[in-house]
Amino acid sequence: MSNIRIRIRDNGPIVIETPVTIADAEGNQFTIAADKPVIALCRCGASANKPFCDGAHRNCGFESVVRAAPG
Ligand code: FES
Repeated sequence: MSNIRIRIRDNGPIVIETPVTIADAEGNQFTIAADKPVIALCRCGASANKPFCDGAHRNCGFESVVRAAPG
């Protein structure tokens, strides 16, 4: 079983270590460059390159800070 690390960035995207497969609702896979150590998925809804983050969260007023419950 693989253990993929996923991080939720404050006021930003969801960052996932590669290798990972990202597919749309029909099962079609998005292309991820083999040399990328991580990918970032948009969490704010403002990216022009969904599902990937393009940095638009910095200028759209997106604010979200989540923390896992202790324990
Ligand atoms: S989280 Fe970065 S563009 Fe949406």
